[in-house]
Amino acid sequence: MTIGIIGSGALGSAVARAFTRKGLSVILSNSRGPASLVSLIEELGPNAKAGSIAEAASAEIVLVAVPWVHIADALRGLPAWNGRIVVDGTNAVEFLDPNSSDANDPSNPLAAYGIKAIDLGARHSSAVFRDLVPGARVVKAFNHLDVRVLVEPETAGGKRVLFYSGDDAAAKVDVRALIETSGFFPIDLGTLDLGGPLASLPFGSLTTLNLIKV
Ligand SMILES: NC(=O)c1ccc[n+]([C@@H]2O[C@H](COP(=O)([O-])OP(=O)(O)OC[C@H]3O[C@@H](n4cnc5c(N)ncnc54)[C@H](OP(=O)(O)O)[C@@H]3O)[C@@H](O)[C@H]2O)c1
Repeated sequence: MTIGIIGSGALGSAVARAFTRKGLSVILSNSRGPASLVSLIEELGPNAKAGSIAEAASAEIVLVAVPWVHIADALRGLPAWNGRIVVDGTNAVEFLDPNSSDANDPSNPLAAYGIKAIDLGARHSSAVFRDLVPGARVVKAFNHLDVRVLVEPETAGGKRVLFYSGDDAAAKVDVRALIETSGFFPIDLGTLDLGGPLASLPFGSLTTLNLIKV
């Protein structure tokens, strides 16, 4: 199976490492194009290749791993999703430039973490994301842990727990299998409306919860 990855920075490359280590194939893409991914592809080995965003988006399962503020741009103009699975690995936060005034804004409770919450009104981020990929089957996963721990699925004699949620039972079976194959222990949090907010940054009660199943 090939997994398309849109966004090949901290999250996209960490998940690609976990996938390719277990023999899964990936097509990585980013905003600058395949030539900028040469050294990452070399590091990941023969199971990885670089492609355009449209090539990554044509895979059976597509992980979106771009900063929230760039999602709409990244997904604009892609061919119809036609029921393919899109894994939402994003969180509705803005990364702050440490030298900006935002980084020291006393009214931002997340400034110390270098992030700011993005105001989505009464909606949760998975609901907004779902509208950006019409016709896709959305599963939220790979978003709740820092990449510094995500990069190591099997650790301390057990498997790192990954939460996932979604509305399509068959899509969840496939993503669960992907999570298991890549060495993590999956826990189903239910529907997107229920599980999405629980495990999303910045304020989900399960977000950053780093559990090991022994
Ligand atoms: N970092 C973490 O620990 C972590 C953990 C869990 C979830 N997340 C979530 O994962 C998402 C990505 O975060 P990150 O830390 O991986 O960010 P990052 O390191 O800055 O990487 C962002 C990636 O998105 C690509 N990108 C930006 N705009 C794009 C566009 N218009 N079209 C296509 N690709 C575009 C960038 O392309 P270029 O390389 O060409 O600039 C880059 O490859 C965020 O939603 C974040 O909340 C992050």
